Amino acid sequence: MVEPTAAQLSVDGTVLDLEVERSVEGNDGIAIPRLLADTGHVTIDPGFMNTAACESSITYIDGEAGTLRYRGYPIAQLASQSTFLEVAHLLIHGELPSRAELEALAERVARHMQVHDGIKNFLRAFPRDAQPMAILSGAISALQTFYPDSVGRNVEEVERASVLLLAKTATVIAYLQRRSQGGDYIEPHKSGTDYVEEFLRLTFAPQDGAVEVDPKICRAMDLLLILHADHEQNCSTSTVRIVGSSQATMYASVAAGVSALSGPLHGGANEAALHMFDEIKASGDTVDTFVAKVKDKSEGARLMGFGHRVYKSYDPRGAEVKKVADEVLRELGGNVELFDMAQRLEEIALSDEYFIERKLYPNVDFYTGLLYKAMGFPPSMFTPLFALGRMPGWIAHWREALTDPRTKIGRPRQIYTGAQERAYVPMDARG
Ligand code: CMC
Repeated sequence: MVEPTAAQLSVDGTVLDLEVERSVEGNDGIAIPRLLADTGHVTIDPGFMNTAACESSITYIDGEAGTLRYRGYPIAQLASQSTFLEVAHLLIHGELPSRAELEALAERVARHMQVHDGIKNFLRAFPRDAQPMAILSGAISALQTFYPDSVGRNVEEVERASVLLLAKTATVIAYLQRRSQGGDYIEPHKSGTDYVEEFLRLTFAPQDGAVEVDPKICRAMDLLLILHADHEQNCSTSTVRIVGSSQATMYASVAAGVSALSGPLHGGANEAALHMFDEIKASGDTVDTFVAKVKDKSEGARLMGFGHRVYKSYDPRGAEVKKVADEVLRELGGNVELFDMAQRLEEIALSDEYFIERKLYPNVDFYTGLLYKAMGFPPSMFTPLFALGRMPGWIAHWREALTDPRTKIGRPRQIYTGAQERAYVPMDARG
């Protein structure tokens, strides 16, 4: 939505009338398309603290109020009433699916969970203890070479790539875990399966493939995937969009998103939070002394799983994870001691001036590691699980950018601070 002049900017005597793009909810945007041409200036905004890169109708966050909605639906309602594949359809296509649409999607995904032998061999090429996010990124990029009829930009190929990425990423992640635990692959059933149940079977079943997946674990996994499914223009999603803006394939763009997600300030925070709980326990520190270290900053410690660029109140996803962690951990009997420690840490931080002043609250990653560990995932697999959950969001954003007539290749400017022109110095003349 563009409205006539509502802002003005004066630069060295040149006055620019700027249009304001109105949002449906949240921040409006001041458009500066002629800033460089008319004034010779660019803007600088490290970390994009104030900069919108696009319009989007997928996800809405109000960080002050702790609101998160996918396509208008509050996250708490989706968490309690829907399933991951239903949410994937919602994010990618904009509406909740009919029963027939959901069944068709589930069947199509089930049919494509098998991966090509070339991908199986690719995964075997790495040491069993290799960092799985590095392999995952490579495997997703390599997938496109086996399915060349899904790399085009027409409707059918884009739809095919979306289904293949949802289906095959689950299998690749399950295989990564099996290899890291010393096992070999088992084959997906190709029909009539529930996505999350099949993912858990492929991950945890013994070599004969027969296992009864605990419905409570299945539901908890489904919920965790829903909570991670999208989060508007975060670091990995922005990466997907910017790579896609060069007309790179959906696979190449999503593979870049996986790499962005691997960092400890983004998707890697779930693993870092669990290490932090383990270290506090092993070091004999009390939670109070650990919080004092974080506030002191001299050791560079951060309270992992706390703080967020957008949320300045409790992350609504964190609240949902905490509820399910409480139920599942007490029932499975795993990690209760660490869960109690995490809750104590949260309590101290939330009543401490350092955290209050900076509006630092638990985010989605604070409790997820505890849950994943209790389900049987090793810490190195936590971030791949985040990637599996985020897949529908990455796909939805890539597709939204593809069909947005305003999409241009992403190419920021810079403020140059290097040497001015100087003459080349021959080797012998260098001091
Ligand atoms: N522990 C201690 N202090 C913190 C923390 C923390 N977790 N997070 C921020 N601060 C302090 C920071 O030191 C700074 O203090 P000061 O004003 O004195 O310099 C102030 O709060 C603002 O921090 P910032 O780093 O400028 O904030 P940001 O918006 O650039 O960073 C963040 C956001 C998520 C990277 C950061 O809060 C952080 O590093 N958190 C820990 C890692 C984490 O849990 N990441 C998961 C994010 S949610 C899942 C996802 O989307 O991937």
